[in-house]
Amino acid sequence: MKNLAALQSLFQKEIDTLNLGEAPAKLYDPMHYIMQLGGKRLRPILSLMGAQIYGDPAKAMPQAMAIELFHNFSLIHDDIMDAAPLRRGKTTVHIKWDENVGILSGDGMLVKAYQYIAQCDPTILPEVLGTFSQTALEVCEGQQMDMDFETMDEVEADTYIKMIQFKTSVLLGCAMKVGALVGGGSKEDADALYQFALLLGTSFQIKDDYLDVYGDPEKFGKQVGGDILSNKKTLLWIEAQRRAALQGIDFSSYSSMEPNEDKVHSFQELYKILAVDTYAKEQIDHYYTLSLEALDKVSVDAERLAPLREFAAWLYARES
Ligand code: IPE
Ligand code: IPE
Ligand code: MG
Ligand code: MG
Ligand code: MG
Repeated sequence: MKNLAALQSLFQKEIDTLNLGEAPAKLYDPMHYIMQLGGKRLRPILSLMGAQIYGDPAKAMPQAMAIELFHNFSLIHDDIMDAAPLRRGKTTVHIKWDENVGILSGDGMLVKAYQYIAQCDPTILPEVLGTFSQTALEVCEGQQMDMDFETMDEVEADTYIKMIQFKTSVLLGCAMKVGALVGGGSKEDADALYQFALLLGTSFQIKDDYLDVYGDPEKFGKQVGGDILSNKKTLLWIEAQRRAALQGIDFSSYSSMEPNEDKVHSFQELYKILAVDTYAKEQIDHYYTLSLEALDKVSVDAERLAPLREFAAWLYARES
């Protein structure tokens, strides 16, 4: 944990002195509000670790900040789209201010993210920018798929995996790859590291879906049951629907319930009866294992990758 804690505090120092602008206050205040709410800082840590494999982690600091800015922009917009009241245990931007403020300060953060990501050696700029832009578009694609699925009766498990890889995993992949490139890693290594983070991010998003149902509200920092209330097609939902059909349980009597506490409790019980909570845990393990295997393709001494294994284990065990 020593290295992880050191990188977290290195990044926190940058956040503490972050000044994105002052006026108009309704443009910049929400940016500082969300950036200073905390969070796990996984993506910037991945960028710093990517650079650390080849030398000084701080070399990737502008890119780490770029990715965290992009992530927080996507959270402001995601919370509008998901009608979420809570983020990191605090009121979401669109409720504290309003939706228009959330839209514009989010847009501003995306522009800031581009300003930061471009602060690298010109020789690798095309690769860094290309990866980031492609990733940003994929996140939008994943987000739209996620929204489309809310009103679809059935979604296949492999379509769900594609959706979460786009909305979530590719950004972890990008953070890792860009960090490695800026740190001096080869394109081949950077691509292998991307695969590690993509698979770890897949495990991470399935865990997010699991915690959305069974998380401790104090630790999770988000509204528990939010996915159930908005009919999100999570892996738990998809597998429960499949198992219910096999057992002659009328799934539509659950999915058509009014969005309130009752619905959340009914689903929490149904998921247990159908053992999809266990199924989700198996899938979290599956992608976690695949991510560690992907590290074998990175051509550096195993000890240089130890921090990444430590990071993966920490993320795997998270409750927030
Ligand atoms: C939340 O990401 C959005 C998802 C992709 C699940 P994190 O769980 O990394 O959020 P913070 O930054 O730690 O709050
Ligand atoms: C978020 O997915 C993905 C992005 C923000 C791009 P979720 O909607 O599951 O994230 P949370 O649960 O609100 O953090
Ligand atoms: Mg969402
Ligand atoms: Mg959300
Ligand atoms: Mg979620």
